[in-house]
Amino acid sequence: MKGVFVVGAGPAGMFAARQIALAGYETYIFNRDIRPGGLAQYGIYPLKIKMKSGLRKQFDQTLALANVHYFGHVQIGAAYDLSLADLEAFRPAAIVFASGAQGAKSLGLPGEDAHGIYASKDFVYNYNQLESHVPRDFSAHKRIAVIGVGNVAIDVARWLLLDKPAKYTESVVIVARRGPLEIKFDKKEIEHVEPHISRDELAAELERVKDRCAKANQDVSPEKVVATHFPHMNDPAFATIPPRLSFRFLSSPKAFVSNAEGRVTQMIVAENELVLKSDGATSARTTDATSAIEVDTVLFAIGDTHDPQIGLPMGPDGYATRPDANQPSAPSPNPTAPSFEVWDPAGGSVRPGQFVVGWARKASTGLAGLARHDGELGANKAIEFLKDAPDPNTFTEAEIRARLTATGLRIMDKQDLALLARAEEREGPITSPNSFHFIEEGAIFKVIDAERDRAAHTESTPEVAAD
Ligand SMILES: Cc1cc2nc3c(=O)[nH]c(=O)nc-3n(C[C@H](O)[C@H](O)[C@H](O)COP(=O)(O)OP(=O)(O)OC[C@H]3O[C@@H](n4cnc5c(N)ncnc54)[C@H](O)[C@@H]3O)c2cc1C
Ligand SMILES: NC(=O)c1ccc[n+]([C@@H]2O[C@H](COP(=O)([O-])OP(=O)(O)OC[C@H]3O[C@@H](n4cnc5c(N)ncnc54)[C@H](OP(=O)(O)O)[C@@H]3O)[C@@H](O)[C@H]2O)c1
Repeated sequence: MKGVFVVGAGPAGMFAARQIALAGYETYIFNRDIRPGGLAQYGIYPLKIKMKSGLRKQFDQTLALANVHYFGHVQIGAAYDLSLADLEAFRPAAIVFASGAQGAKSLGLPGEDAHGIYASKDFVYNYNQLESHVPRDFSAHKRIAVIGVGNVAIDVARWLLLDKPAKYTESVVIVARRGPLEIKFDKKEIEHVEPHISRDELAAELERVKDRCAKANQDVSPEKVVATHFPHMNDPAFATIPPRLSFRFLSSPKAFVSNAEGRVTQMIVAENELVLKSDGATSARTTDATSAIEVDTVLFAIGDTHDPQIGLPMGPDGYATRPDANQPSAPSPNPTAPSFEVWDPAGGSVRPGQFVVGWARKASTGLAGLARHDGELGANKAIEFLKDAPDPNTFTEAEIRARLTATGLRIMDKQDLALLARAEEREGPITSPNSFHFIEEGAIFKVIDAERDRAAHTESTPEVAAD
Protein backbone atom coordinates (compact mmCIF):
# COMPACT_ATOMS: atom_id res chain seq x y z
CA MET A 1 0.00 0.00 0.00
CA LYS A 2 1.28 3.47 -0.93
CA GLY A 3 0.66 5.68 2.08
CA VAL A 4 1.45 9.40 2.04
CA PHE A 5 2.49 11.36 5.11
CA VAL A 6 1.67 15.02 5.62
CA VAL A 7 3.58 16.81 8.39
CA GLY A 8 1.51 19.72 9.70
CA ALA A 9 -2.22 20.41 9.75
CA GLY A 10 -2.45 24.11 8.90
CA PRO A 11 -4.24 25.17 5.71
CA ALA A 12 -1.37 24.00 3.48
CA GLY A 13 -1.23 20.54 5.08
CA MET A 14 -4.99 20.03 5.37
CA PHE A 15 -5.68 20.96 1.75
CA ALA A 16 -2.69 18.94 0.54
CA ALA A 17 -4.00 15.95 2.55
CA ARG A 18 -7.44 16.36 1.02
CA GLN A 19 -6.04 16.39 -2.51
CA ILE A 20 -3.89 13.31 -1.88
CA ALA A 21 -6.72 11.41 -0.19
CA LEU A 22 -9.09 12.23 -3.06
CA ALA A 23 -6.48 10.79 -5.43
CA GLY A 24 -6.99 7.50 -3.58
CA TYR A 25 -3.93 7.27 -1.30
CA GLU A 26 -4.04 6.45 2.40
CA THR A 27 -3.09 9.79 3.95
CA TYR A 28 -1.54 10.19 7.40
CA ILE A 29 -1.35 13.62 9.00
CA PHE A 30 1.22 14.14 11.77
CA ASN A 31 0.58 17.37 13.62
CA ARG A 32 2.45 19.03 16.50
CA ASP A 33 -0.70 20.52 18.00
CA ILE A 34 -3.60 18.61 19.49
CA ARG A 35 -6.09 20.22 17.14
CA PRO A 36 -5.68 20.81 13.42
CA GLY A 37 -5.65 24.31 11.90
CA GLY A 38 -2.19 25.75 12.46
CA LEU A 39 -2.20 29.53 12.14
CA ALA A 40 -5.71 29.39 10.65
CA GLN A 41 -6.77 28.40 14.15
CA TYR A 42 -4.04 29.80 16.39
CA GLY A 43 -2.88 32.80 14.32
CA ILE A 44 -5.90 34.43 12.70
CA TYR A 45 -7.43 37.07 14.96
CA PRO A 46 -9.81 35.59 17.58
CA LEU A 47 -12.70 37.80 16.51
CA LYS A 48 -12.58 36.66 12.88
CA ILE A 49 -15.06 34.02 13.94
CA LYS A 50 -16.73 33.50 10.55
CA MET A 51 -13.41 33.00 8.75
CA LYS A 52 -12.06 30.67 11.40
CA SER A 53 -15.18 28.54 11.67
CA GLY A 54 -15.41 28.36 7.84
CA LEU A 55 -11.87 27.02 7.66
CA ARG A 56 -12.52 24.65 10.55
CA LYS A 57 -15.52 23.23 8.68
CA GLN A 58 -13.34 22.57 5.64
CA PHE A 59 -10.70 20.87 7.79
CA ASP A 60 -13.44 18.70 9.34
CA GLN A 61 -14.54 17.65 5.85
CA THR A 62 -10.99 16.51 5.11
CA LEU A 63 -10.78 14.59 8.38
CA ALA A 64 -14.10 12.93 7.57
CA LEU A 65 -12.56 11.20 4.55
CA ALA A 66 -12.13 7.53 5.44
CA ASN A 67 -8.59 7.35 4.04
CA VAL A 68 -7.36 10.37 6.05
CA HIS A 69 -5.77 9.47 9.40
CA TYR A 70 -4.80 12.03 12.05
CA PHE A 71 -1.96 11.75 14.54
CA GLY A 72 -2.13 14.98 16.52
CA HIS A 73 0.18 15.91 19.41
CA VAL A 74 3.12 14.35 17.53
CA GLN A 75 5.96 16.71 16.73
CA ILE A 76 8.40 15.65 14.05
CA GLY A 77 12.05 16.58 14.48
CA ALA A 78 15.38 15.44 15.87
CA ALA A 79 14.77 16.97 19.30
CA TYR A 80 11.04 16.18 19.39
CA ASP A 81 8.72 13.16 19.53
CA LEU A 82 9.69 11.46 16.32
CA SER A 83 12.72 12.10 14.13
CA LEU A 84 12.47 12.20 10.37
CA ALA A 85 14.30 8.85 10.31
CA ASP A 86 11.63 7.41 12.68
CA LEU A 87 8.97 8.68 10.31
CA GLU A 88 10.72 7.21 7.28
CA ALA A 89 10.85 3.85 9.08
CA PHE A 90 7.04 3.68 8.57
CA ARG A 91 7.88 3.48 4.83
CA PRO A 92 5.81 6.33 3.40
CA ALA A 93 5.60 6.48 -0.40
CA ALA A 94 5.95 10.28 -0.13
CA ILE A 95 6.10 12.94 2.58
CA VAL A 96 4.63 16.43 2.23
CA PHE A 97 6.06 18.86 4.78
CA ALA A 98 3.53 21.54 5.70
CA SER A 99 4.95 22.48 9.07
CA GLY A 100 4.87 26.24 8.48
CA ALA A 101 7.57 28.58 9.79
CA GLN A 102 7.92 27.85 13.49
CA GLY A 103 11.22 29.59 14.24
CA ALA A 104 11.43 33.20 15.36
CA LYS A 105 13.73 35.65 13.56
CA SER A 106 16.28 36.85 16.05
CA LEU A 107 18.28 40.01 15.43
CA GLY A 108 20.85 39.02 18.06
CA LEU A 109 20.72 42.43 19.75
CA PRO A 110 22.24 43.15 23.18
CA GLY A 111 19.62 42.64 25.88
CA GLU A 112 17.21 40.85 23.52
CA ASP A 113 16.58 38.05 26.03
CA ALA A 114 15.08 40.39 28.67
CA HIS A 115 11.64 39.59 30.10
CA GLY A 116 8.85 41.27 28.19
CA ILE A 117 10.41 40.80 24.74
CA TYR A 118 8.54 38.29 22.59
CA ALA A 119 8.20 37.01 19.06
CA SER A 120 4.74 38.06 17.88
CA LYS A 121 3.85 34.55 16.73
CA ASP A 122 4.38 33.22 20.26
CA PHE A 123 2.33 36.09 21.66
CA VAL A 124 -0.43 35.39 19.13
CA TYR A 125 -0.33 31.64 19.87
CA ASN A 126 -0.85 32.60 23.53
CA TYR A 127 -3.88 34.83 23.03
CA ASN A 128 -5.35 32.34 20.54
CA GLN A 129 -4.98 29.66 23.22
CA LEU A 130 -2.57 27.23 21.61
CA GLU A 131 -2.20 24.75 24.44
CA SER A 132 1.63 24.77 24.42
CA HIS A 133 1.65 28.58 24.81
CA VAL A 134 -1.16 29.08 27.31
CA PRO A 135 0.90 28.42 30.47
CA ARG A 136 3.83 30.64 29.36
CA ASP A 137 4.33 34.23 30.47
CA PHE A 138 3.43 36.70 27.73
CA SER A 139 2.57 39.54 30.04
CA ALA A 140 2.16 42.83 28.21
CA HIS A 141 2.38 45.87 30.46
CA LYS A 142 1.67 49.53 29.68
CA ARG A 143 4.14 50.87 27.12
CA ILE A 144 4.58 48.52 24.22
CA ALA A 145 6.74 48.68 21.11
CA VAL A 146 5.97 46.51 18.09
CA ILE A 147 8.78 46.06 15.57
CA GLY A 148 7.64 45.67 11.95
CA VAL A 149 4.78 47.24 10.07
CA GLY A 150 2.91 44.32 8.47
CA ASN A 151 -0.46 42.75 9.26
CA VAL A 152 0.93 40.76 12.19
CA ALA A 153 2.03 44.04 13.81
CA ILE A 154 -1.49 45.41 13.41
CA ASP A 155 -3.09 42.23 14.77
CA VAL A 156 -1.03 42.36 17.96
CA ALA A 157 -1.61 46.12 18.31
CA ARG A 158 -5.35 45.47 17.94
CA TRP A 159 -5.25 42.87 20.70
CA LEU A 160 -3.28 45.18 22.98
CA LEU A 161 -5.44 48.24 22.33
CA LEU A 162 -8.87 46.69 22.15
CA ASP A 163 -9.31 43.13 23.28
CA LYS A 164 -6.62 42.10 25.76
CA PRO A 165 -8.42 40.92 28.91
CA ALA A 166 -7.69 43.07 31.98
CA LYS A 167 -6.10 45.56 29.67
CA TYR A 168 -4.23 48.53 30.86
CA THR A 169 -2.22 49.37 27.78
CA GLU A 170 -1.22 53.05 27.75
CA SER A 171 0.51 53.24 24.40
CA VAL A 172 1.67 51.13 21.48
CA VAL A 173 4.38 52.39 19.13
CA ILE A 174 4.98 50.62 15.83
CA VAL A 175 8.63 50.82 14.81
CA ALA A 176 9.46 50.53 11.10
CA ARG A 177 12.97 50.26 9.69
CA ARG A 178 11.90 51.95 6.45
CA GLY A 179 9.45 54.76 5.74
CA PRO A 180 5.68 55.29 5.59
CA LEU A 181 5.49 54.32 1.93
CA GLU A 182 6.90 50.87 2.77
CA ILE A 183 4.04 50.08 5.15
CA LYS A 184 2.88 46.49 4.55
CA PHE A 185 -0.38 46.32 6.46
CA ASP A 186 -3.74 46.36 4.69
CA LYS A 187 -6.30 49.14 5.03
CA LYS A 188 -8.94 46.68 6.22
CA GLU A 189 -6.71 45.69 9.13
CA ILE A 190 -5.55 49.17 10.26
CA GLU A 191 -9.20 50.19 10.27
CA HIS A 192 -9.69 48.39 13.58
CA VAL A 193 -7.11 50.50 15.41
CA GLU A 194 -7.10 53.71 13.37
CA PRO A 195 -9.11 55.70 15.94
CA HIS A 196 -6.21 55.25 18.38
CA ILE A 197 -3.85 57.22 16.13
CA SER A 198 -3.50 60.96 16.57
CA ARG A 199 -3.51 62.73 13.20
CA ASP A 200 -1.24 65.46 14.62
CA GLU A 201 1.24 62.98 16.03
CA LEU A 202 1.37 61.13 12.73
CA ALA A 203 1.91 64.43 10.87
CA ALA A 204 4.77 65.29 13.25
CA GLU A 205 6.42 61.91 12.67
CA LEU A 206 6.11 62.35 8.89
CA GLU A 207 7.70 65.79 9.21
CA ARG A 208 10.55 64.21 11.22
CA VAL A 209 11.43 61.76 8.42
CA LYS A 210 10.39 63.72 5.33
CA ASP A 211 13.88 64.93 4.31
CA ARG A 212 15.35 61.43 4.57
CA CYS A 213 12.47 60.05 2.49
CA ALA A 214 12.88 62.85 -0.06
CA LYS A 215 16.46 61.67 -0.65
CA ALA A 216 14.90 58.43 -1.93
CA ASN A 217 12.53 60.50 -4.11
CA GLN A 218 9.58 59.89 -1.80
CA ASP A 219 6.87 62.36 -0.94
CA VAL A 220 5.62 61.49 2.54
CA SER A 221 3.27 64.42 3.01
CA PRO A 222 0.40 63.62 5.39
CA GLU A 223 -2.07 63.94 2.47
CA LYS A 224 -0.29 61.23 0.51
CA VAL A 225 0.41 58.86 3.41
CA VAL A 226 -3.09 59.13 4.83
CA ALA A 227 -4.65 58.57 1.40
CA THR A 228 -2.44 55.52 0.83
CA HIS A 229 -2.72 53.75 4.17
CA PHE A 230 -5.34 55.17 6.53
CA PRO A 231 -8.94 54.81 5.30
CA HIS A 232 -10.75 56.97 7.87
CA MET A 233 -8.32 59.63 8.99
CA ASN A 234 -9.63 62.18 6.50
CA ASP A 235 -13.22 61.83 7.65
CA PRO A 236 -14.31 65.12 9.26
CA ALA A 237 -15.69 63.10 12.19
CA PHE A 238 -12.36 61.33 12.83
CA ALA A 239 -11.48 61.61 16.52
CA THR A 240 -8.67 60.00 18.49
CA ILE A 241 -9.42 57.79 21.47
CA PRO A 242 -7.06 56.34 24.09
CA PRO A 243 -4.95 54.26 24.42
CA ARG A 244 -2.55 55.77 21.87
CA LEU A 245 -1.11 54.10 18.78
CA SER A 246 1.83 55.85 17.12
CA PHE A 247 4.47 55.16 14.50
CA ARG A 248 8.18 55.58 14.45
CA PHE A 249 9.66 55.34 10.96
CA LEU A 250 13.27 54.91 9.77
CA SER A 251 14.24 53.33 13.08
CA SER A 252 15.84 49.98 13.91
CA PRO A 253 16.17 48.50 17.39
CA LYS A 254 19.80 48.37 18.44
CA ALA A 255 19.82 47.27 22.09
CA PHE A 256 17.55 46.77 25.10
CA VAL A 257 18.00 47.94 28.69
CA SER A 258 16.33 46.05 31.53
CA ASN A 259 15.68 46.65 35.25
CA ALA A 260 16.82 44.67 38.29
CA GLU A 261 14.02 42.15 37.73
CA GLY A 262 15.25 41.59 34.19
CA ARG A 263 12.23 43.28 32.56
CA VAL A 264 12.90 45.48 29.54
CA THR A 265 12.67 49.20 30.32
CA GLN A 266 14.18 50.89 27.26
CA MET A 267 14.72 50.15 23.61
CA ILE A 268 17.62 51.95 21.97
CA VAL A 269 16.85 52.62 18.32
CA ALA A 270 19.18 53.71 15.57
CA GLU A 271 18.02 56.28 13.03
CA ASN A 272 18.08 54.98 9.46
CA GLU A 273 18.60 56.54 6.05
CA LEU A 274 16.34 55.40 3.24
CA VAL A 275 18.38 54.17 0.27
CA LEU A 276 16.95 54.05 -3.24
CA LYS A 277 18.33 51.03 -5.10
CA SER A 278 18.90 50.77 -8.83
CA ASP A 279 15.80 48.55 -9.27
CA GLY A 280 13.59 51.21 -7.66
CA ALA A 281 13.24 49.35 -4.35
CA THR A 282 14.41 50.91 -1.08
CA SER A 283 16.43 49.64 1.83
CA ALA A 284 17.25 50.95 5.30
CA ARG A 285 20.80 52.00 6.20
CA THR A 286 21.51 52.39 9.90
CA THR A 287 23.29 55.55 11.06
CA ASP A 288 25.17 56.25 14.29
CA ALA A 289 22.38 58.48 15.63
CA THR A 290 20.37 56.76 18.35
CA SER A 291 17.63 57.52 20.81
CA ALA A 292 15.84 55.68 23.60
CA ILE A 293 12.18 54.68 23.77
CA GLU A 294 10.70 53.88 27.20
CA VAL A 295 9.04 50.48 27.00
CA ASP A 296 8.06 47.59 29.24
CA THR A 297 7.08 45.20 26.46
CA VAL A 298 8.49 44.63 22.96
CA LEU A 299 6.98 42.44 20.27
CA PHE A 300 8.91 41.45 17.18
CA ALA A 301 6.58 41.21 14.19
CA ILE A 302 9.26 40.85 11.54
CA GLY A 303 8.37 37.43 10.09
CA ASP A 304 9.27 33.88 11.02
CA THR A 305 11.90 31.32 10.06
CA HIS A 306 11.88 27.58 9.38
CA ASP A 307 12.58 25.13 12.18
CA PRO A 308 15.85 23.31 11.39
CA GLN A 309 14.94 20.50 13.84
CA ILE A 310 12.58 18.89 11.33
CA GLY A 311 15.57 17.41 9.51
CA LEU A 312 15.19 18.96 6.08
CA PRO A 313 18.25 20.41 4.35
CA MET A 314 18.45 24.17 4.83
CA GLY A 315 19.13 26.73 2.12
CA PRO A 316 19.61 30.52 2.47
CA ASP A 317 15.84 31.12 2.70
CA GLY A 318 14.83 28.14 4.84
CA TYR A 319 14.16 24.60 3.67
CA ALA A 320 16.02 24.03 0.42
CA THR A 321 13.90 23.30 -2.64
CA ARG A 322 14.93 22.30 -6.12
CA PRO A 323 16.59 25.34 -7.69
CA ASP A 324 15.56 24.38 -11.25
CA ALA A 325 11.80 23.95 -10.82
CA ASN A 326 11.52 25.54 -14.24
CA GLN A 327 13.04 22.58 -16.04
CA PRO A 328 13.81 23.30 -19.69
CA SER A 329 12.23 19.96 -20.64
CA ALA A 330 8.84 20.98 -19.21
CA PRO A 331 6.16 21.29 -21.90
CA SER A 332 5.61 25.01 -21.16
CA PRO A 333 8.46 26.35 -19.01
CA ASN A 334 7.36 28.97 -16.52
CA PRO A 335 10.12 31.17 -15.14
CA THR A 336 8.25 31.78 -11.90
CA ALA A 337 7.22 28.14 -11.31
CA PRO A 338 7.17 27.35 -7.58
CA SER A 339 9.55 24.65 -6.44
CA PHE A 340 8.06 22.04 -4.10
CA GLU A 341 10.68 19.28 -4.20
CA VAL A 342 13.06 19.03 -1.25
CA TRP A 343 16.62 19.64 -2.40
CA ASP A 344 19.83 18.37 -0.90
CA PRO A 345 22.39 21.12 -1.61
CA ALA A 346 25.30 18.92 -0.47
CA GLY A 347 24.49 16.13 -2.93
CA GLY A 348 23.07 18.48 -5.58
CA SER A 349 19.95 16.34 -5.98
CA VAL A 350 16.29 16.18 -4.99
CA ARG A 351 15.19 14.00 -2.10
CA PRO A 352 12.81 11.74 -3.99
CA GLY A 353 9.26 11.77 -2.68
CA GLN A 354 9.75 14.70 -0.27
CA PHE A 355 7.87 17.96 -0.86
CA VAL A 356 7.34 21.23 1.04
CA VAL A 357 4.23 23.42 0.82
CA GLY A 358 2.77 26.60 2.32
CA TRP A 359 4.78 28.59 4.84
CA ALA A 360 7.17 25.61 5.09
CA ARG A 361 8.06 26.45 1.49
CA LYS A 362 8.03 30.25 1.83
CA ALA A 363 8.02 31.52 5.40
CA SER A 364 5.55 34.26 6.40
CA THR A 365 4.16 34.64 2.89
CA GLY A 366 0.51 35.34 2.17
CA LEU A 367 -2.91 34.53 3.52
CA ALA A 368 -4.60 31.23 4.32
CA GLY A 369 -6.04 31.02 0.78
CA LEU A 370 -2.55 31.16 -0.67
CA ALA A 371 -1.35 28.43 1.73
CA ARG A 372 -4.30 26.31 0.59
CA HIS A 373 -3.41 26.86 -3.07
CA ASP A 374 0.24 26.07 -2.39
CA GLY A 375 -0.73 22.90 -0.52
CA GLU A 376 -2.85 21.76 -3.45
CA LEU A 377 -0.16 22.52 -6.05
CA GLY A 378 2.45 20.68 -3.96
CA ALA A 379 0.06 17.76 -3.45
CA ASN A 380 -0.36 17.52 -7.23
CA LYS A 381 3.43 17.26 -7.56
CA ALA A 382 3.43 14.46 -4.98
CA ILE A 383 0.59 12.67 -6.79
CA GLU A 384 2.52 12.92 -10.07
CA PHE A 385 5.55 11.38 -8.33
CA LEU A 386 3.47 8.60 -6.73
CA LYS A 387 2.16 7.28 -10.06
CA ASP A 388 5.52 5.76 -11.00
CA ALA A 389 6.93 5.32 -7.48
CA PRO A 390 7.37 1.75 -6.21
CA ASP A 391 4.94 0.51 -3.53
CA PRO A 392 6.93 0.57 -0.26
CA ASN A 393 4.20 -1.27 1.65
CA THR A 394 3.60 1.63 4.04
CA PHE A 395 2.69 0.78 7.64
CA THR A 396 -1.04 0.70 8.29
CA GLU A 397 -2.82 3.11 10.63
CA ALA A 398 -2.91 0.41 13.33
CA GLU A 399 0.80 -0.37 12.95
CA ILE A 400 1.80 3.29 13.21
CA ARG A 401 -0.49 3.83 16.18
CA ALA A 402 0.98 0.78 17.95
CA ARG A 403 4.55 2.06 17.43
CA LEU A 404 3.69 5.58 18.60
CA THR A 405 1.85 4.52 21.72
CA ALA A 406 4.62 2.06 22.58
CA THR A 407 6.96 5.05 22.86
CA GLY A 408 4.61 6.61 25.43
CA LEU A 409 3.14 9.27 23.15
CA ARG A 410 -0.40 10.40 23.83
CA ILE A 411 -1.78 10.64 20.32
CA MET A 412 -4.80 12.70 19.37
CA ASP A 413 -6.77 10.85 16.69
CA LYS A 414 -9.97 11.55 14.82
CA GLN A 415 -12.07 9.78 17.44
CA ASP A 416 -10.47 11.92 20.17
CA LEU A 417 -11.18 15.10 18.18
CA ALA A 418 -14.83 14.07 17.89
CA LEU A 419 -15.06 13.30 21.61
CA LEU A 420 -13.48 16.63 22.49
CA ALA A 421 -15.84 18.48 20.15
CA ARG A 422 -18.82 16.80 21.78
CA ALA A 423 -17.64 17.65 25.29
CA GLU A 424 -17.12 21.29 24.25
CA GLU A 425 -20.50 21.44 22.58
CA ARG A 426 -22.10 20.38 25.81
CA GLU A 427 -20.35 23.25 27.62
CA GLY A 428 -22.41 25.69 25.52
CA PRO A 429 -21.40 28.83 23.62
CA ILE A 430 -18.02 30.46 24.18
CA THR A 431 -18.18 33.83 25.90
CA SER A 432 -14.56 34.99 25.57
CA PRO A 433 -13.07 36.25 22.29
CA ASN A 434 -11.18 32.97 22.07
CA SER A 435 -12.42 29.74 20.65
CA PHE A 436 -12.26 26.79 23.00
CA HIS A 437 -13.49 25.64 26.38
CA PHE A 438 -10.58 23.35 27.11
CA ILE A 439 -7.18 24.88 26.53
CA GLU A 440 -4.82 23.16 28.90
CA GLU A 441 -3.21 19.99 27.56
CA GLY A 442 -3.89 17.83 30.64
CA ALA A 443 -7.49 19.04 30.82
CA ILE A 444 -8.06 18.22 27.16
CA PHE A 445 -6.92 14.63 27.52
CA LYS A 446 -8.84 14.24 30.76
CA VAL A 447 -12.06 15.45 29.18
CA ILE A 448 -11.55 13.09 26.22
CA ASP A 449 -11.08 10.11 28.54
CA ALA A 450 -14.15 11.13 30.53
CA GLU A 451 -16.18 11.52 27.35
CA ARG A 452 -15.05 8.10 26.12
CA ASP A 453 -16.09 6.51 29.43
CA ARG A 454 -19.38 8.32 29.33
CA ALA A 455 -20.00 7.10 25.78
CA ALA A 456 -19.10 3.54 26.77
CA HIS A 457 -21.60 3.56 29.62
CA THR A 458 -24.45 5.65 28.37
CA GLU A 459 -24.37 6.32 24.65
CA SER A 460 -22.67 5.47 21.42
CA THR A 461 -19.34 7.06 20.50
CA PRO A 462 -19.54 10.07 18.14
CA GLU A 463 -19.56 9.44 14.41
CA VAL A 464 -16.19 9.56 12.70
CA ALA A 465 -15.17 8.13 9.38
CA ALA A 466 -13.91 4.59 9.72
CA ASP A 467 -10.14 4.24 9.83
C1 LIG B 1 -0.77 36.45 13.43
C2 LIG B 1 -1.27 35.97 12.09
C3 LIG B 1 -2.53 36.35 11.67
C4 LIG B 1 -3.00 35.92 10.42
N1 LIG B 1 -4.23 36.34 10.00
C5 LIG B 1 -4.71 35.95 8.82
C6 LIG B 1 -6.00 36.36 8.37
O1 LIG B 1 -6.69 37.12 9.05
N2 LIG B 1 -6.45 35.90 7.18
C7 LIG B 1 -5.71 35.04 6.41
O2 LIG B 1 -6.19 34.60 5.35
N3 LIG B 1 -4.46 34.67 6.79
C8 LIG B 1 -3.95 35.10 7.96
N4 LIG B 1 -2.70 34.72 8.35
C9 LIG B 1 -1.91 33.89 7.45
C10 LIG B 1 -2.29 32.39 7.54
O3 LIG B 1 -2.46 32.04 8.88
C11 LIG B 1 -1.17 31.56 6.88
O4 LIG B 1 -1.13 31.93 5.51
C12 LIG B 1 -1.41 30.06 6.92
O5 LIG B 1 -1.87 29.61 8.17
C13 LIG B 1 -0.12 29.28 6.58
O6 LIG B 1 -0.47 27.94 6.49
P1 LIG B 1 0.57 26.72 6.64
O7 LIG B 1 -0.29 25.50 6.66
O8 LIG B 1 1.62 26.82 5.63
O9 LIG B 1 1.28 26.91 8.06
P2 LIG B 1 0.67 26.91 9.53
O10 LIG B 1 -0.70 27.47 9.53
O11 LIG B 1 1.68 27.54 10.39
O12 LIG B 1 0.55 25.36 9.92
C14 LIG B 1 1.65 24.59 10.26
C15 LIG B 1 1.19 23.31 10.95
O13 LIG B 1 2.34 22.47 11.14
C16 LIG B 1 2.35 21.97 12.45
N5 LIG B 1 3.76 21.73 12.81
C17 LIG B 1 4.72 22.63 12.99
N6 LIG B 1 5.89 22.04 13.28
C18 LIG B 1 5.65 20.72 13.28
C19 LIG B 1 6.45 19.58 13.52
N7 LIG B 1 7.73 19.71 13.82
N8 LIG B 1 5.88 18.36 13.47
C20 LIG B 1 4.55 18.21 13.20
N9 LIG B 1 3.74 19.27 12.95
C21 LIG B 1 4.28 20.50 12.98
C22 LIG B 1 1.70 23.04 13.30
O14 LIG B 1 1.18 22.45 14.48
C23 LIG B 1 0.60 23.53 12.34
O15 LIG B 1 -0.56 22.75 12.50
C24 LIG B 1 -2.19 35.11 9.59
C25 LIG B 1 -0.91 34.74 10.03
C26 LIG B 1 -0.44 35.17 11.26
C27 LIG B 1 0.94 34.80 11.71
N1 LIG C 1 -5.14 40.11 9.17
C1 LIG C 1 -4.53 39.54 8.16
O1 LIG C 1 -5.04 39.42 7.07
C2 LIG C 1 -3.16 39.03 8.42
C3 LIG C 1 -2.66 39.09 9.71
C4 LIG C 1 -1.37 38.67 9.95
C5 LIG C 1 -0.60 38.19 8.90
N2 LIG C 1 -1.11 38.13 7.66
C6 LIG C 1 -0.26 37.72 6.53
O2 LIG C 1 0.82 36.93 7.00
C7 LIG C 1 2.00 37.26 6.25
C8 LIG C 1 3.13 37.63 7.22
O3 LIG C 1 2.81 38.86 7.85
P1 LIG C 1 3.94 39.68 8.64
O4 LIG C 1 3.34 40.90 9.17
O5 LIG C 1 4.68 38.75 9.51
O6 LIG C 1 5.00 39.97 7.48
P2 LIG C 1 5.22 41.24 6.50
O7 LIG C 1 3.96 41.75 5.95
O8 LIG C 1 6.27 40.80 5.56
O9 LIG C 1 5.81 42.38 7.47
C9 LIG C 1 7.01 42.19 8.13
C10 LIG C 1 7.51 43.51 8.65
O10 LIG C 1 8.70 43.27 9.38
C11 LIG C 1 9.74 44.14 8.91
N3 LIG C 1 11.03 43.50 9.07
C12 LIG C 1 11.46 42.35 8.50
N4 LIG C 1 12.73 42.09 8.89
C13 LIG C 1 13.10 43.11 9.71
C14 LIG C 1 14.28 43.41 10.43
N5 LIG C 1 15.32 42.61 10.38
N6 LIG C 1 14.31 44.54 11.18
C15 LIG C 1 13.24 45.34 11.26
N7 LIG C 1 12.09 45.12 10.59
C16 LIG C 1 12.03 44.01 9.83
C17 LIG C 1 9.39 44.38 7.47
O11 LIG C 1 10.03 45.55 7.02
P3 LIG C 1 10.58 45.68 5.51
O12 LIG C 1 9.38 45.94 4.69
O13 LIG C 1 11.53 46.78 5.59
O14 LIG C 1 11.22 44.33 5.19
C18 LIG C 1 7.87 44.52 7.57
O15 LIG C 1 7.50 45.80 7.99
C19 LIG C 1 1.63 38.38 5.31
O16 LIG C 1 1.32 37.84 4.06
C20 LIG C 1 0.39 38.96 5.95
O17 LIG C 1 -0.47 39.62 5.04
C21 LIG C 1 -2.37 38.56 7.39
